Amino acid sequence: MQSSRRCEPRLSLHSSGGHVMTSQTTEIGLFLRRWLAHPLRVGAIMPSSRALARLVARNAVTSPDDTVVELGAGTGTVTRALVEAGLDEGRLVLIELDRDLVAYLRRRFPSATVIEGDASRPYDILPRDSIGKVDTVISGIPALQFPLEKQRQFIGQCFAAMRADGQLLQYTYSLASPLPTAPLKLSGKRLGLAFANVPPAHLWGYTPLEGSGIGEAAAGEAAE
Ligand SMILES: C[S@@+](CC[C@H](N)C(=O)[O-])C[C@H]1O[C@@H](n2cnc3c(N)ncnc32)[C@H](O)[C@@H]1O
Repeated sequence: MQSSRRCEPRLSLHSSGGHVMTSQTTEIGLFLRRWLAHPLRVGAIMPSSRALARLVARNAVTSPDDTVVELGAGTGTVTRALVEAGLDEGRLVLIELDRDLVAYLRRRFPSATVIEGDASRPYDILPRDSIGKVDTVISGIPALQFPLEKQRQFIGQCFAAMRADGQLLQYTYSLASPLPTAPLKLSGKRLGLAFANVPPAHLWGYTPLEGSGIGEAAAGEAAE
């Protein structure tokens, strides 16, 4: 299923050695400072590796015109891989809670829409004209640690924002699915492992089970 959704890499930004080093040093320093300020919220001590970012991008980008929402974009490591994989930067919506990271993302991806807010409620904060048009939601927020009811609300909000064939991608250090598929009425598939990440990270893809009604509650509440 995933291979039919991919497009070939189109751009190779930041490919010169010097630029990569400067950019990565800045990213790591900023990420570390934000982790020191909010260790639980930031979760990882380092930004995602290039290996993980590319794994995510391979599974997220099918066409330059896809609309992709990234939850917890951090310093933009995954974002950069999405653009390098051919996604039009203007089709990206980045949601991040940390104000310093939001400012950094706005400078770094000036054509993307960057929203400062709680990414566990994406439907509530996305621009209204993108609702129902999102192809993929990529989550880097710690959904594994949410209680079940918050996970239910989270996936409801994600799928309410997406097209009918939209997919939710979640990366995780956990071996098992970070979202419990049966209680949440999800179909889940492990899409790959980025072994070079520290620690190694898995990528999971989710779609609603047929007839699950996921997403309808969030959309209904907003319509009232
Ligand atoms: C594990 S880091 C991933 C950062 C980046 N995507 C990467 O791959 O390097 C998690 C990020 O999610 C952000 N975050 C955590 N909870 C969030 C929430 N509820 N809403 C928005 N951002 C959140 C953190 O500030 C942090 O930047």
